[in-house]
Amino acid sequence: MEVILAKSAGFCFGVKRAVETVYQQVEKGGHIYTYGPIIHNEAVVRDLEEKGVSVIKDTDLDRLEDGTVIIRSHGVPREVCGRIEKQGLTCVDATCPFVKRIHTIVEQESRAGKQIIIIGNPGHPEVEGIMGWSETPAIVIESEKEAQNLDCPPGKDICLVSQTTFNYNKFQELVEIIQKKGYNISVANTICNATEERQAEAKLIASQVDAMIVIGGTHSSNTAKLYEICRRECENTCFIQTLDDLQLDFPESVFRVGITAGASTPNYIIEEVQNYVRVNF
Ligand code: F3S
Repeated sequence: MEVILAKSAGFCFGVKRAVETVYQQVEKGGHIYTYGPIIHNEAVVRDLEEKGVSVIKDTDLDRLEDGTVIIRSHGVPREVCGRIEKQGLTCVDATCPFVKRIHTIVEQESRAGKQIIIIGNPGHPEVEGIMGWSETPAIVIESEKEAQNLDCPPGKDICLVSQTTFNYNKFQELVEIIQKKGYNISVANTICNATEERQAEAKLIASQVDAMIVIGGTHSSNTAKLYEICRRECENTCFIQTLDDLQLDFPESVFRVGITAGASTPNYIIEEVQNYVRVNF
């Protein structure tokens, strides 16, 4: 059996870096906290808990007396790092560098007097974090209607950024609507293409194999999307959470199997599945 594993399967660069940061801090010892779950994967969070890492909420900060607080890849508003340090705790910032770049743009441009507009989902922690780096209140726009209703003072300079995971086509549409309003706009396309690359690679592999395995959480929307894309290319596509769910009953005509995984699937699960398929078929 030939197995093709997608290079982009599983954690993106920023999440991998953040998870590794937590394990490195565990090695150093002391009380370790993560500001929110480091990743939406129960197995990883449980493993870290067993190693003494606690997940905290913003309201827990005030009661902590010592230790290290790790900021996850989504990033946080600027004042959060300040509060952590004021409390006498160590702040280890594992914000993804691509998100950090947005913070820097927003901080500098708002300081220069520009109105910050973030194209993104207002309830998402990444967007809340970005808002917290603007010197003046930022505006978040998610829909065409919001873009059409935008009402800034005439002549105001605007700096427009995007949430890293926002859909590129939708971003372009919203930018065009805002541009037509005649403002003086500088646009920073801050979309990260990790998700798109994962989807494109999954599609390509699924089109070349006889069976495809997609690994990820049942509640993970990006994994569901991967499954949908693969299923369109390869009828023999299965969706599993871990190796335990794998019930392969391949027809004899299956010679090549492809494997991909959603953004919050740890590497060891992908490896397990890959080794199993290689050895048993
Ligand atoms: Fe991941 Fe960073 Fe992109 S967290 S999705 S590599 S912005």
